[in-house]
Amino acid sequence: MSTSDKTSIGVIGIGYVGLVTGTCLAELGNNVVCMDIDAEKIEALREGQIPIYEPELPELILKNRDRMTFTTSLADIFDRCEIFFIAVDTPPTFTGDADLSRVFAVMSELPGLSNKHHVLVMKSTVPVGTGLKISSELARQEMANIDYVSNPEFLREGSAIHDFLNPDRIVIGSRDPGIGEKVAALYRNMKAPILKTNIPTAEMIKYASNAFLATKISFINEIANVCEEVGADVCVVADGMGHDRRIGKHFLNAGIGFGGSCFPKDVTALKQIAGNSGYHFQLLTAVIEVNELQKRRVVNKLQKHLGTLADKTIALLGLAFKPNTSDLREASSIVLASRLLGDGALVKAYDPVAIPYAAKAVRGILLCDNILSVVKDSDAVVLVTEWDEFADLPLEEMKKVMRRPLIIDGRNFLDPRKVRAAGFTYEGIGRV
Ligand code: UGA
Repeated sequence: MSTSDKTSIGVIGIGYVGLVTGTCLAELGNNVVCMDIDAEKIEALREGQIPIYEPELPELILKNRDRMTFTTSLADIFDRCEIFFIAVDTPPTFTGDADLSRVFAVMSELPGLSNKHHVLVMKSTVPVGTGLKISSELARQEMANIDYVSNPEFLREGSAIHDFLNPDRIVIGSRDPGIGEKVAALYRNMKAPILKTNIPTAEMIKYASNAFLATKISFINEIANVCEEVGADVCVVADGMGHDRRIGKHFLNAGIGFGGSCFPKDVTALKQIAGNSGYHFQLLTAVIEVNELQKRRVVNKLQKHLGTLADKTIALLGLAFKPNTSDLREASSIVLASRLLGDGALVKAYDPVAIPYAAKAVRGILLCDNILSVVKDSDAVVLVTEWDEFADLPLEEMKKVMRRPLIIDGRNFLDPRKVRAAGFTYEGIGRV
């Protein structure tokens, strides 16, 4: 079949998930209409500028540019697409619930009953129960020509293209199996199992997956904290645990806690979803608290070596919430920097990619453009993000320009023997 024979697929909300979804659907051979209300972003995309840093994404957009169109008009989507994805963001409100205002803004503009059939596919993470509410609303508002499908996304930033095209599973929640089948057909060439469920189950699979992974991280972080007390090494412990296939090796890297636009938001939202239905999710309360305290431990480690932090200079290596992304949302670096500034320290930072976005995210830190300039005259270095560039630090040169040779490795990324051999005091998280 030639690509022009295919119906276009719509994607509403061109953030991380939306842009990757649209690009990968184009890569799978579909014509894709990408819609966002941000006219500047759409104009930039039309001119070939990519608004986010994500490996492989620019190349894939370029490769598929004939199949991708960018618009600010929802009408374009409804005119040209039977199936359209909603991928707008659902940030947390002050109560911890997911803010669905962007989802409802799209809903309010859906066309009234027409003889054209549409399938609204929810990619955004929405609280369990939202899909059923929306599909009832569609029926009530006499928009019975629009069917609803939940199709949560499991991609990670930094490896988003790979994850989208090589998923572990595809989850499709629908009321009507025939409609779910239409969405499943988009993924027919993928090797992953397709799980067809009802709508709340699909929504819960997404929250439960993120919450479980976050729980794994908080668990290993607590093990790391105990390791420090008893002289064990958490890296070796995690490796030993990971050999057990029931546990698995992934997501057992202890450090200064999880960040990003998903885990903090989704764990809190799941706790709220449970709370709103009268269930107190004790475990998640602890997961969140452990994650908060973990960032404070780095401050304690600095104080242990430096005494008061007032007027000390602390250099942060890395700002992004994880490597291979420019994303600073809920990044541990932001919380850490704010605490250090609060204690009167001078905070400097270098990140291979996130610097241009950092000035807006955190005020009062001195942004530097390479490793040596950030460590110059500092009393300590904290490795916050495990970028490849930091794997082989220029230790000799660093030692010459630093005030004190102290490295706190917030990601257990460096080789302690090598760092100590270069004359540094080294502390990881739960490492001997
Ligand atoms: C996460 C999930 O992994 C994806 O499956 C999901 O689709 C996505 O959220 C989402 O809901 O959109 P992401 O936030 O991009 O993906 O990044 P992760 O690789 O999961 O890392 C999240 C945080 O956990 C990072 O701050 C990372 O440094 C931290 N982390 C991860 C650890 O501290 N230790 C680990 O062992 C793993």
